[in-house]
Amino acid sequence: MTKTILLTGSTDGIGLATAKVLAAQNHHVLLHGRSQTKLDDAERTVQAQGGTGTIWAYQADLSDIGEVAAFADAVTAEHDHLDVLINNAGVFRTAQPAAANGLDVRFMVNTIAPYVLTRRLWPILGPQSRVVNLSSAAQAPVNPDALRGTVRLDDSNAYAQSKLALTMWSNHLASQWGLDGPIVVPVNPGSFLGTNMVKEAYGTAGNDIGIGSDILTRAAISNEFAEASGHYYDNDSGRFANPHPDALDPVKNAALVDTIDSVIATLQP
Ligand SMILES: NC(=O)c1ccc[n+]([C@@H]2O[C@H](COP(=O)([O-])OP(=O)(O)OC[C@H]3O[C@@H](n4cnc5c(N)ncnc54)[C@H](OP(=O)(O)O)[C@@H]3O)[C@@H](O)[C@H]2O)c1
Repeated sequence: MTKTILLTGSTDGIGLATAKVLAAQNHHVLLHGRSQTKLDDAERTVQAQGGTGTIWAYQADLSDIGEVAAFADAVTAEHDHLDVLINNAGVFRTAQPAAANGLDVRFMVNTIAPYVLTRRLWPILGPQSRVVNLSSAAQAPVNPDALRGTVRLDDSNAYAQSKLALTMWSNHLASQWGLDGPIVVPVNPGSFLGTNMVKEAYGTAGNDIGIGSDILTRAAISNEFAEASGHYYDNDSGRFANPHPDALDPVKNAALVDTIDSVIATLQP
């Protein structure tokens, strides 16, 4: 059955590879990127897969909460239903760790932007829809002051904390929404996949990106993920597994979401 699938960060790496697979399978694919030039290139590449689905493209810099909101509104204006939202866009190493709003760009892009996007798109996500969130094997306890942007972290810590924070809000929304909301599933796509992120961070060629696009495609459409809400999938071990223990604690997850909400309140125009 043809699905309508929004995939953030689909201009490169795992996101672009996944978009190509989904388009080739005749799904309707909504691409997203921050660079209009890369987005145009990605759109041509994905169109060239020859699928029968329609391809859309949306530009937004996810380090800017105003652009995240406008992106969600643009998607909602053009679509009354989404089957799948894959929150894939992410950043690890960057020359500019502080976003214009003062937050660490890892927390803004990897944690807060997908949270805002998911909540704003909720009206067009039905109970059978899926939200697939790109987690990581790198997960570290979240310092709320780092999330607020008042304490600075190095690249590895900022990334690992942002990914545990994403995993924690995923589990929180999964338990809050239950059977009424879309399923929310955090997925580690596999470690050291050979994307720009890994090459820049570790200086290695990395593993086959197809490992990541394969698991994202399965998480998006296969029956094995139909009951996966709130269950972390670890593609390094190839099974559902426990994330960092903090993400299994509903009290800590709720407190983390409270902190995210309070940060968002300070960013609203
Ligand atoms: N590769 C791995 O081994 C691995 C392991 C675990 C988790 N992950 C996760 O998998 C996801 C995809 O990463 P990847 O490895 O494919 O990295 P990548 O090749 O660097 O792709 C990242 C994507 O996110 C986009 N992006 C970055 N900052 C953005 C911003 N401010 N606004 C909008 N889009 C932005 C990038 O856009 P541009 O094209 O403009 O750069 C690109 O499309 C990430 O969430 C990452 O944390 C990857």
